[in-house]
Amino acid sequence: MSDNLKRAAAERAASLVSDGMRLGLGTGSTAAHFVAAIGERVRGGLKVVGVPTSEATRAQAEREGIPLSTLDETPELDLTVDGADELDDELRLIKGGGGAHLREKIVASASRRMIVIADGSKRVAKLGRFPLPIEVAPFGLKVTEIAISKLFSSLDLSGDLRLRQSADGAPFITDGGHFILDAHLGRIEKPNVLASTLNYIPGVVEHGLFLGLATGAILATDQGLVELGQ
Ligand code: A5P
Repeated sequence: MSDNLKRAAAERAASLVSDGMRLGLGTGSTAAHFVAAIGERVRGGLKVVGVPTSEATRAQAEREGIPLSTLDETPELDLTVDGADELDDELRLIKGGGGAHLREKIVASASRRMIVIADGSKRVAKLGRFPLPIEVAPFGLKVTEIAISKLFSSLDLSGDLRLRQSADGAPFITDGGHFILDAHLGRIEKPNVLASTLNYIPGVVEHGLFLGLATGAILATDQGLVELGQ
C-alpha cells in the first residue's frame, strides 16, 4: 500500500514537469518512482535534463534514458523532486536515511523550487523521531563524535550517536567517501540552532536537516493527495 502512495505522490510531481526544465533528481524509494515517471515521459517526447543526487539515481536515470547533466554544467535548476524521512508543517525536513543528503542538499540549494514527495506518514508535528544523519569525515572520527556529543549536551539534547553500518557490518560509506553518524534524538526543539551549530564542527561534512530548502510537498494518504506550499 505504502508503495502505491509513494507512486501517487511521485506521479503528481511528474505532472508538474514541462519541456525545457532542468531537474534535480532525488534519491530513495519515493524519488525512484519520480525518476521512473520522468523516464516514461522522456520516452514519450518530454525534453528535460536531470542532475542526479546519488550514484544510484544516476544509474536509474541512465537506464530510463533521461538526459543527464552535472551541477558544474548546469548550476541553476528549475525544480528538484526528492523524498524525505520526516517533514513538519513549516516544510523543514530530515533527510539522509539513504545516506545521500550531502548531494541532495547541494542540488536542492541550486534549485528554484524543491518539492518533497512522500507518503503521509512522514509528516510529523516535531522533527527528531527519525535519527538525524550526520555525514562525517572518517579522519578523526572519535574527535568529531565527542564534539557532536558535547554540542548535544550544551543544547539539552540527549540521545545516542551510532555509526551507520552496511549489511556486512562494515561502516556505511557515502558517495562522497564519508561515514554517517545517526543521532537518535527523539525530538529536536530548535532545528535552526542545531543545524547552524553542527556546521561549525570540523569533521562534520553535512547533516540531514533541510531548513528553508523545500518550497512544497506532495503527501499521499489513504484519503488522497495533500499538497503544501508550491
Ligand atoms: C536519501 O538519502 C534520503 O534523503 C531519502 O530521500 C529519504 O531517505 C527518503 O527515502 P524514501 O523515499 O525511500 O523513504
